Amino acid sequence: MVAADTRTRLVLTAMRLFWEKGYGSTSVADVLQAAKVNSGSLYHFFPGKQDLLLVAEVNGELVGQAGLHPAGVAIRRRHAMYLGISVASTAQRQGIGTALMTALCDYADNWLACLRIELTVYTDNEIAQRLYRNFGFEVEGTLRAYALRDGVYVDAYSMARLHPNPPTVTRSDA
Ligand SMILES: CC(C)(COP(=O)(O)OP(=O)(O)OC[C@H]1O[C@@H](n2cnc3c(N)ncnc32)[C@H](O)[C@@H]1OP(=O)(O)O)[C@@H](O)C(=O)NCCC(=O)NCCS
Repeated sequence: MVAADTRTRLVLTAMRLFWEKGYGSTSVADVLQAAKVNSGSLYHFFPGKQDLLLVAEVNGELVGQAGLHPAGVAIRRRHAMYLGISVASTAQRQGIGTALMTALCDYADNWLACLRIELTVYTDNEIAQRLYRNFGFEVEGTLRAYALRDGVYVDAYSMARLHPNPPTVTRSDA
């Protein structure tokens, strides 16, 4: 429970500082100091400030979360992020998943220099696939026997979305 408390404190502190000071003006040191956590604990839970976690609240109750995480550490994969999302069963089908996806895609498209968002989804999870398709994700392949689920190996789709309108450099001499 102590570990979970530390992780939660880090997330909530980072969110508060991002809100108050802005993402770009909040350093890892600021988060550590405000959360009263040492750097070893931070890097135990998070590889760095590149991970983004959004939460959805209804009347102060946490009902959904969505995250973007670097897809790999290699420099040549810096343009790719991995996406995960879940909404509490009691709060589904009310547009919360759509709201979280809208915020994540806006952040990825306009602030992250992210060209490609990747995810995996079980092939029988048609509801999530529908949500992803609404945001331009396409199936790129099938991962066979991807995970063991309740005693059965199940397949997953690899889906991805490329930036619909990648930013370009405007040259003054062009
Ligand atoms: C997938 C998930 C995040 C969607 O969240 P949500 O808040 O219900 O999503 P929304 O209310 O914004 O609806 C998104 C789309 O899914 C559809 N949908 C949502 N629940 C549905 C249901 N029970 N049956 C049919 N369609 C459904 C909506 O109609 C909507 O599609 P549309 O805009 O084309 O009509 C949510 O169902 C969930 O957390 N599922 C369990 C965890 C999970 O599967 N995560 C993804 C792992 S890859």
